[in-house]
Amino acid sequence: MPKILDTSQNSLNKALELLNSDDVIAIPTETVYGLAASAASTKAVEKVFKIKGRPSFNPIISHYATLDEIFKDVIYDERVVKLAEIFWPGPLTIILNKTKNSRISEIVCAGLNTAGVRIPRHPFTLELLRRFAAPVAAPSANPSGRLSPSSAAHVAKLFPDHEAGESTEIGVSQDGTAHKRASSRLRRTNDRSVLRVHEDHEDDGNAETRVCEQYLEWIVDGGNCECGLESTVLDLSNSLPKLLRYGSVSVMELKNILGEIALPEQDESIRSPGMLLKHYAPKCKLRLNYSFNDKPFENEALIAFGSIAEALIQSSSKMTESDLNFSFRKIINISPSADLDEAASKLFASLHELENLGVDSITVMPIPYDSVGKAINDRLLRAAEGSKDLG
Ligand code: TXA
Ligand code: MG
Repeated sequence: MPKILDTSQNSLNKALELLNSDDVIAIPTETVYGLAASAASTKAVEKVFKIKGRPSFNPIISHYATLDEIFKDVIYDERVVKLAEIFWPGPLTIILNKTKNSRISEIVCAGLNTAGVRIPRHPFTLELLRRFAAPVAAPSANPSGRLSPSSAAHVAKLFPDHEAGESTEIGVSQDGTAHKRASSRLRRTNDRSVLRVHEDHEDDGNAETRVCEQYLEWIVDGGNCECGLESTVLDLSNSLPKLLRYGSVSVMELKNILGEIALPEQDESIRSPGMLLKHYAPKCKLRLNYSFNDKPFENEALIAFGSIAEALIQSSSKMTESDLNFSFRKIINISPSADLDEAASKLFASLHELENLGVDSITVMPIPYDSVGKAINDRLLRAAEGSKDLG
């Protein structure tokens, strides 16, 4: 297992030492856990790409403690100052044009002239950012394409120690989707490199192969993430603001400040590779918009939202609540009171829990398409697309 740090002063000093020596650590934020490294160090960020198995064309966002630091690396924009007053520190990432002397390494931005920046609000991470001399690059702390982590335990599960004998080789198809291609037994050698001792390869023609030759050694456990879904991504690199990813900050809240905003299009993957369909995939089938008239599958779990009793009445289903408890392997209600923020904070955690339980499929009750409900539906749709590859 990777080593776990708590949020004490000693851990903060250790985390600073690791960042200063170009190492990677998983850190908590209010959205999801991130795989953090100095954004000014190409060597450190290369490690992040390797650990995550992330395609090099997908840029990483940089994290800061203050606006002054942000405007050293991206060009000043008055709209950012207005948004910062309301949303920072918080779950909003803004894409801006880089300054000539930007400290952010080219590799972080995948060669683009723009950079994604945000000020997160987890107290440990904010203090770390205050004390570290450079911006901190951090994608979500999951292998590319997998479920995002909203607790330290999720991160530990997603990046098992290679001594324990498990690692993945990740294929990236032409449409940019990353997926597991092979299981390898890996053993750590004395010089901290990794020795592959066993391979179980599934070849699939036109895929590019990346071997994870780097492993995650450190995780800071800062508790469960407050929001539980990744930040909203807003592109302000042009005059018309454009939403690239739904998140906890809603379109309505942004419109109140900025006026017109363009919404994500189907071909968004070109502008923001993280918007590719087939993302956030659990290791089992996922079917959406469960209707109580549908018969549950074998070894299936239900993610419920709102009152199940009411939903049963409205669907005029013949099933009762006890039938459901009997038919589903497990039922997790992510918000019995139909609160979307509560549901968002529990979504990834419930998917991880059901994945750990070894269910063959998960079905989810309909979630309203309002405010953060848009982000929840967006993640569920991508997870369902990703799970189709499981055959
Ligand atoms: O909440 C979050 O944003 C978390 C925490 C750790 O801060 N981070 C996160 O990072 O979700 P990641 O890499 O999983 O997602 C960042 C998204 C990706 O979709 C990426 O393509 C997009 O932001 N992005 C980053 N820089 C960009 C740029 N310059 N232009 C367009 N999209 C960009
Ligand atoms: Mg991610």
